[in-house]
Amino acid sequence: MPGLRQEILVMKSIKEKLNSKKIPRHVAIIMDGNGRWAAKHGSERSFGHEHGVDAVRSTVEGASEIGIQYLTLYAFSTENWERPKNEVDALMGLLVQAIENETDELMKNNVRLDAIGDLKKLPSDVSKKLQECIHALSSNTGLTLVLALSYSSKWEIAEAARKIADDVKNNKINPANIDDKLFGKYLSTAHLPDPELLIRTSGEFRISNFLLWQIAYAELYFTAKLWPDFRKEDLFKAVYDFQNRERRFGKISEQLLS
Ligand code: FPP
Repeated sequence: MPGLRQEILVMKSIKEKLNSKKIPRHVAIIMDGNGRWAAKHGSERSFGHEHGVDAVRSTVEGASEIGIQYLTLYAFSTENWERPKNEVDALMGLLVQAIENETDELMKNNVRLDAIGDLKKLPSDVSKKLQECIHALSSNTGLTLVLALSYSSKWEIAEAARKIADDVKNNKINPANIDDKLFGKYLSTAHLPDPELLIRTSGEFRISNFLLWQIAYAELYFTAKLWPDFRKEDLFKAVYDFQNRERRFGKISEQLLS
């Protein structure tokens, strides 16, 4: 298959072309297109989610290889609870299975695990497995894989506002001191740097209630690939694209040189 070989060679050279000094510290991904991938293969939606796990494995591996420090995956949104019960059950079952099956590999790759979202809404078996895996990997020092589960940005921002209101009421903070830095400390990502690169698969150009506060200055990268087809080489491509952008943070080009 010369086409495939050619493609692998091109991908390899993209990894080699990456500037190791400009690797984004934090990459976030909206994994989209599992359902359409399944339909394309004449199967049920859950078949797409199952194959989505292969994409997760390859992406985590690739992120570790190039030294990304934090990788946040949008695995289940607050809105996803509204999907048909059989799909929600399949996704929850898949999560337990994936955590169970992948823990050894994550350990081998020195990966830590973390989770953000309204975790108390998760079924008890998912929650138990997740906490066990987070604990088992807690001494690792490589990539931190953050799973956004039962997560939505509006939920998170409203939660932060409620906690701030409580702290104002209890005289723990002065309203005059509320600024974006303090607000960020009340978000579930307080311990994480903001993502520098946000990737969305499946050709949709939406943010879908994901890390709205945190992506204020992230570079956005959209690919038509459906999530189950996404591999580490696609991550390298996105990082390469990121490295060739000028990030001005509201300043002008000339100021970046000084
Ligand atoms: C979006 O595709 C994908 C999801 C809602 C679930 C993502 C879950 C996985 C990749 C599997 C398990 C994850 C981990 C972290 C082990 P969609 O169903 O919205 O696709 P569609 O837009 O084509 O319908």
